[in-house]
Amino acid sequence: MQIVILDNAAEVARYGADVFIRQIDRKPDSVLGLATGSTPLALYRRLIAACKNGDISFARVCSFNLDEYLGLAGDHPQSYRHFMNTQLFEHIDIDLRNTHIPPGDAADPIQACSDYDKLIEARGGIDIQLLGIGRNGHIGFNEPSSGLRSRTRIKTLTEATIKDNARFFSAREFQPHLSITMGIGTIMEARKVVLLATGAAKAKAIKAAAEGPLSASCPASALQMHGNALLIIDEAAAAGLERRAFYKHVERENQKLLQSLDKT
Ligand code: GLP
Repeated sequence: MQIVILDNAAEVARYGADVFIRQIDRKPDSVLGLATGSTPLALYRRLIAACKNGDISFARVCSFNLDEYLGLAGDHPQSYRHFMNTQLFEHIDIDLRNTHIPPGDAADPIQACSDYDKLIEARGGIDIQLLGIGRNGHIGFNEPSSGLRSRTRIKTLTEATIKDNARFFSAREFQPHLSITMGIGTIMEARKVVLLATGAAKAKAIKAAAEGPLSASCPASALQMHGNALLIIDEAAAAGLERRAFYKHVERENQKLLQSLDKT
């Protein structure tokens, strides 16, 4: 697990966006795994700018989002489909038909879950998966106790997650308690995983994910078993890490090595 600690949230977005820009540059028909939540927004704004500048094109890109609220149709303002359309897809040259989000209004949601995994496989698997993290260590909507090899399925949200996400819903609005989420096993199949975390509220989850035991109690800890996982976090989210100084040292050494290779 590579851990990059940066000064602030803006730096996290810049570093993360550069990873995605390099990926699309190298492979214009990349399969991207995308995430919702407030954390990736600044990264999306950078991707939009890069696309508008002509630095990258999403014309051949295909995307799969992590999750969706069960019971919300894509045109519902609180749906993750609506979030992705308005925060990213409508501002870049992606073909909307190549963007995939679990269907929250599927007539047969159980079938829709296995169809989603099959579609990811049919598209050759995810090249790079973006992740945020919940305060309880969830990734996607894989709440604590989720099976570490789970597939896309229906998950009940914890009280904590419902409370954390209540800020997006108005007082009298229906807030779903169920979701369709890629499983931890599905996420682990992505060839590269990039998790972003910013702010002190994520420090406990980051500590458990990076340095805690591999455990279903912290779903993000499964990434310790991933061969190509990158955590990009700010100082506030890194505050609880025991080996914080070492990770910073490793990153400096990595940068030096990359620069020396550039010169040759
Ligand atoms: C939701 C999403 C997650 C996201 C999490 C954190 O629960 N399902 O994918 O990582 O929120 O959101 P935020 O980035 O707003 O803290």
